[in-house]
Amino acid sequence: MNIYKLISKRFGGEEFGKNSGEYKFGKIKSAKEEAMRRSPEIPIIDLGIGEPDGMPEQPIIDKLYEESMVYSNRGYADNGCEEFKIAAIKYMKDVYGVDGLDLSKEITHAIGSKNAFAFFPAAFIDTDDYALITSPGYPVLGAHTEWMGGKVYPLPLLEENSFLPDLDNIPQDVLDRAKILYLNYPNNPTGAIATKEFYKKVVKFAKENNVFVIADAAYGDLQFVGETLSFLSIEGAKEVGVEVHSLSKAFNMTGWRLAFVVGNSLGLDLFKHSKNNYDSGQFLAIQKAGVFALQHPEFTKPIREKYLRRHKKLVEILKSIGFDAKVPGGTFFLYLPIPKGVKDGITFNSGEDFCQYLIKELHISSVPWDEEGAFIRFSVTFETQNRTEDDVFTELKRRLESVSFYF
Ligand SMILES: Cc1ncc(COP(=O)(O)O)c(C=O)c1O
Repeated sequence: MNIYKLISKRFGGEEFGKNSGEYKFGKIKSAKEEAMRRSPEIPIIDLGIGEPDGMPEQPIIDKLYEESMVYSNRGYADNGCEEFKIAAIKYMKDVYGVDGLDLSKEITHAIGSKNAFAFFPAAFIDTDDYALITSPGYPVLGAHTEWMGGKVYPLPLLEENSFLPDLDNIPQDVLDRAKILYLNYPNNPTGAIATKEFYKKVVKFAKENNVFVIADAAYGDLQFVGETLSFLSIEGAKEVGVEVHSLSKAFNMTGWRLAFVVGNSLGLDLFKHSKNNYDSGQFLAIQKAGVFALQHPEFTKPIREKYLRRHKKLVEILKSIGFDAKVPGGTFFLYLPIPKGVKDGITFNSGEDFCQYLIKELHISSVPWDEEGAFIRFSVTFETQNRTEDDVFTELKRRLESVSFYF
């Protein structure tokens, strides 16, 4: 039997697993394993992890425990519970100043925002239709677009444009077939934040080109400068799109899988129709613990402060070595151009080369991004284990200083 011969073209047929995004993370994992085999006594400093290292606040956990014992919470939740939607609407008002959302039409929950992005392409994409997707970026909506027979048109995020996409130079034949525009601010991996002016432009662009906007606010409340900004706070935004919020990063509830989709009512109908054919809703006890979290947006403050403090320390170290590093506007990610090489030694031609070097030679884990130039992403969500945060930074500095990079 050859199962490879049975694999669909959308999954790459017999090439499955040889050239996918998973491959990038697979390579990092193998490099980590090799480094640990060679020198098990040197612990890895893991700046590659893309998820929070902290626990949710204790009362959220207590609430989950309590609600998990309630008989009426045991069954299918389908499109969600009223209390969660009410709490999310209030959260949108208190944290983002977005008022007047309709409980019956403009909000629903999702089992994490990853799932939410997976469900939209079925509603919009036919063969050869386009999704406009910022690059580099979170791949889920693009993967599902392609599985539906559609195409991804990447919108490069470049430093000279403050990592905002250029909406003015998309070819007309792409615009004619574009159905979805995916945006993500605060942005993974660049750490950039959006501006009101940019979002106003997006609303205009969506109306003029009849494109539906999906704004990914997974890092929404992890913004370090200016006011926390929702796409939906812009006049007319609700006519053209939805925003997806997650409790993963704002409340350290990553594995709990809880998010909400909010905005355009037809967009919500389409989403719910798609979702109904994939899942039966998140466990009600988790949703009710989520209600408690959303009623306490102040829980995000120490999380945000921790990331900012760590970013500042990391940037100081990297700058002292010669990297062009700046504290980002939001998220726990730091996105950096790579050095050219090591003096009298190896040269780096891609983020991936540099990432492999860091892990194999210095036991520092990171994630490469080569879509729009050679970059690397460090995350400040490292676990300190039995050391202090400062111990980790001191050791990081020592390891980086042991090599002379040139830029
Ligand atoms: C940009 C972006 N969007 C969405 C997600 C998914 O978050 P979740 O499914 O945990 O809500 C992530 C997770 O890393 C992300 O980086």
